[in-house]
Amino acid sequence: MDDKELLRLANEVRANAYCPYSGFAVGAALLCEDGSVYTGVNIENAAYGPSICAERTAIFKAISEGKRGFVKLAVTCESDHCRPCGVCRQVMSEHAPEMVILMGNPEGAFVRTTVRELLPDAFSFQEG
Ligand code: THU
Repeated sequence: MDDKELLRLANEVRANAYCPYSGFAVGAALLCEDGSVYTGVNIENAAYGPSICAERTAIFKAISEGKRGFVKLAVTCESDHCRPCGVCRQVMSEHAPEMVILMGNPEGAFVRTTVRELLPDAFSFQEG
């Protein structure tokens, strides 16, 4: 699947965001090695702490359906381009350190990067 299509899916699912506290809707679309795509939105909570970002929703949906091996994740929000938070970067690093990240906005502009670029020298139990 090409970058533009994955970004389109991420932007489309933004409509499902549950964000009554911030009013800031985020959508994500995760491409798996087998070609399947899992989408996610941010889901907030009155207690704030239990809220989850769109990127982690998509990743956790895929993992809980048995998927492993993630190729590319698109994320969009009202911004020049949508930047994943630090917690999401750590989760991406755990499950897909080589993954490509497309950071987009609703108008279709985007920046292409990787998990390694977003979180260099990441903590892990596997490496020193
Ligand atoms: N948020 C995401 O879902 N992903 C990001 O990359 C940045 C922030 C959410 C968390 C919260 O629901 C709202 O955006 C405002 O921070």
